Amino acid sequence: ISTEMAKEVVRVLVTGAAGQIGYALVPMIARGVMLGPDQPVILHMLDIPPAAEALFGVKMELVDAAFPLLKGVVATTDVVEACIGVNIAIMVGGFPRKEGMERKDVMSKNVSIYKSQASALEKHAAPNCKVLVVANPANTNALILKEFAPSIPEKNITCLTRLDHNRALGQISERLNVQVSDVKNVVIWGNHSSTQYPDVNHATVKTPSGEKPVRELVADDAWLNGEFITTVQQRGAAIIKARKLSSALSAASSACDHIRDWVLGTPEGTWVSMGVYSDGSYDVPSGIIYSFPVTCKNGEWTIVQALKIDEYSRQKMDATGAELVEEKNLAYSCLS
Ligand code: NAD
Ligand code: LMR
Repeated sequence: ISTEMAKEVVRVLVTGAAGQIGYALVPMIARGVMLGPDQPVILHMLDIPPAAEALFGVKMELVDAAFPLLKGVVATTDVVEACIGVNIAIMVGGFPRKEGMERKDVMSKNVSIYKSQASALEKHAAPNCKVLVVANPANTNALILKEFAPSIPEKNITCLTRLDHNRALGQISERLNVQVSDVKNVVIWGNHSSTQYPDVNHATVKTPSGEKPVRELVADDAWLNGEFITTVQQRGAAIIKARKLSSALSAASSACDHIRDWVLGTPEGTWVSMGVYSDGSYDVPSGIIYSFPVTCKNGEWTIVQALKIDEYSRQKMDATGAELVEEKNLAYSCLS
């Protein structure tokens, strides 16, 4: 007989749960991929009325899968009911970018969604609720959510760039033919868009003779400064072109990585990329949600400081920051 106290149940909200990321994500959460194999969860799933029937279908499947950690499912089209008491909110609901569309095209639709969901979370979520925005434009949706939920601490509102981070690890692993788990400390700077800057200047690979810089092992600056960067920047578009749908399993898996590391901590000596509210570190404009390298401990993220930034990186970091300032202005113009 186990003498360990059972962990208190954690309520996890997934908005847009009837969509394709939702369909990949909810079983991962119910299996303990996000919060660990000993953490019971109650899933709150929100979608809009046209998707209600599909949402209830997902609920049936969750029941049918008999997940031992899943202690309950709330499936609703009522945003207030969805938000009551949630400890973690994964905001996937929104209007996805389709082939040929730019993120800006979907801005105004998403701004109004994030404004109203911010108010519901602020009023009804558990104190200290952690929020991850996945829906695009992810950084700016997170900013709108932050602005309209002023009582949620700004440190609790983040957006997903872990997918880009993982894509960068994947590209290095393929190029060097090494295990992806042996590659670490890439950085995604800036926006979850094609202006993001995937930076390998601090990244290393574990080898039998110790950790080696990625730049030294790849020994091809033209590839690292060219094709590597564009492949990561354009990966979302490449997947849309190939699947006629945006990435789903990799987005869901990366959302689990983001929350797991935030709640349970990053491994010693390792950082990850998260879109967080800029405090002006690295001379990034403050007042935007920008992806930085972060370490996490005790449920809090901290921006990794004092990385050396060369002129090439500076330019790319500034360009993606400028795009976010522009997106912020566009979002505000949609509000008025
Ligand atoms: P999808 O269209 O399959 O699902 C979206 C779901 O959201 C739908 O079921 C829809 O009914 C629902 N929805 C719409 N408005 C809603 C609202 N107001 N409240 C609740 N639910 C609402 O899309 P998807 O492929 O699952 O993608 C979801 C979002 O994630 C898109 O914006 C996509 O661009 C984005 N995305 C982000 C990343 C990232 O790395 N940050 C990666 C992939 C996709
Ligand atoms: C992705 O990165 O796969 C998504 O954000 C899809 C997109 O809109 O590019």
